[in-house]
Amino acid sequence: MLRTPEAIRDAERWTAHNYHPLPVVISSAEGSWLTDVDGRRYLDCLAGYSALNFGHRHPTLIAAAHAQLDRLTLTSRAFVHDQFADFCRELAELCGKDLVLPMNTGAEAVETGIKVARKWGYQVKGVAPGMANIVVAEGNFHGRTTTIVSFSTDEDARADFGPYTPGFTVVPYGDLAALSAAIDENTVAVLLEPIQGEQGVVVPPEGYLPGVRRVCTERNVLFVADEIQSGLGRTGQTFACDHEGVTPDMYLLGKALGGGIVPVSAVAANTDVLGVLRPGQHGSTFGGNPLACAVATEVVRLLATGEFQRRSTELGARLHAGLRSLVGRGLLAVRGRGLWAGLDIDPALMSGREACERLAERGVLAKDTHGSTIRLAPPLVITEEEIDHAVAQLAAVLAG
Ligand SMILES: Cc1ncc(COP(=O)(O)O)c(C=O)c1O
Repeated sequence: MLRTPEAIRDAERWTAHNYHPLPVVISSAEGSWLTDVDGRRYLDCLAGYSALNFGHRHPTLIAAAHAQLDRLTLTSRAFVHDQFADFCRELAELCGKDLVLPMNTGAEAVETGIKVARKWGYQVKGVAPGMANIVVAEGNFHGRTTTIVSFSTDEDARADFGPYTPGFTVVPYGDLAALSAAIDENTVAVLLEPIQGEQGVVVPPEGYLPGVRRVCTERNVLFVADEIQSGLGRTGQTFACDHEGVTPDMYLLGKALGGGIVPVSAVAANTDVLGVLRPGQHGSTFGGNPLACAVATEVVRLLATGEFQRRSTELGARLHAGLRSLVGRGLLAVRGRGLWAGLDIDPALMSGREACERLAERGVLAKDTHGSTIRLAPPLVITEEEIDHAVAQLAAVLAG
């Protein structure tokens, strides 16, 4: 008897229904492949929304986790531990920044960025008390806290969670004139995803990010780049901002930083920005814990080799060529960079959800987002043959 139906029934019985997962129940994984409780194998083309950039159970990361589990797992930040300094230094160097502040989830990194930007606004820029404002983009996705959903433009994410946190102005994504017009003397930061992942891997027009950088510098506003999904090799560069030679004032990082093993997020910025925080003003019991640091240090070292960025560029070109060949054959459009793609399926054919269900039946796991859009973000360890396999399965699904 198959174990999948019962496992799904049990999960639905005992959990809040804040997700609508595909009907697969995974029990083990390695590299780019997952195995379910009934022994079926799937090619992972989501990679935990980029949390598994290095694939499942990358040997170096697993070894680091095992070694650390045997020595020390948690101290809280009341004490310093021996994994902390190396992690912070190596991540700061990867980012080209002076300082790092470690947290756990992506949303916490975003919250940290918002708090730091506001404090910087009051203490450094001289914004009047309580007046700080942050400019954000339509279609954003920065997480699920009450403050973050306050400036979401997705009604599912936002409705009925008010009262909402004030202090945010939403402008169209990719429209530099609108962004510039929204900045006034109370603006402390512009907070953007350099590529909007959840929105469907939306790449802004060329020149937009350098324009944002220029406007922020001219108007004394911090450019905060949420690279939680786009960063750490996903797009073929360490950061998506790198494609246009842009350096933000603050990087928000998460997902892949934990190597698919532990939640690790971080804010990286220079001393004039992160230096505004004093003891007692911000923190997290688990942020920067020894296990997280041990794994994340190895993540940073993997990235420092450049191998994963190179793989993403080369294999991404193959993926995008394959996907482009399906435009007009069931796909309306393909967007993205590196091993990251947003596909618009012809809604006359099927919804994104239906396409993902049919892909799953064919042993490929991907995730729909917003109607007929699918997001592909395979692990960066995926091979050429596996990419061709994924594209072939998608072609078969679209051909009906
Ligand atoms: C760009 C971006 N920022 C923030 C987050 C929130 O991260 P977390 O789910 O770890 O809180 C996400 C998650 O998808 C994201 O894509």
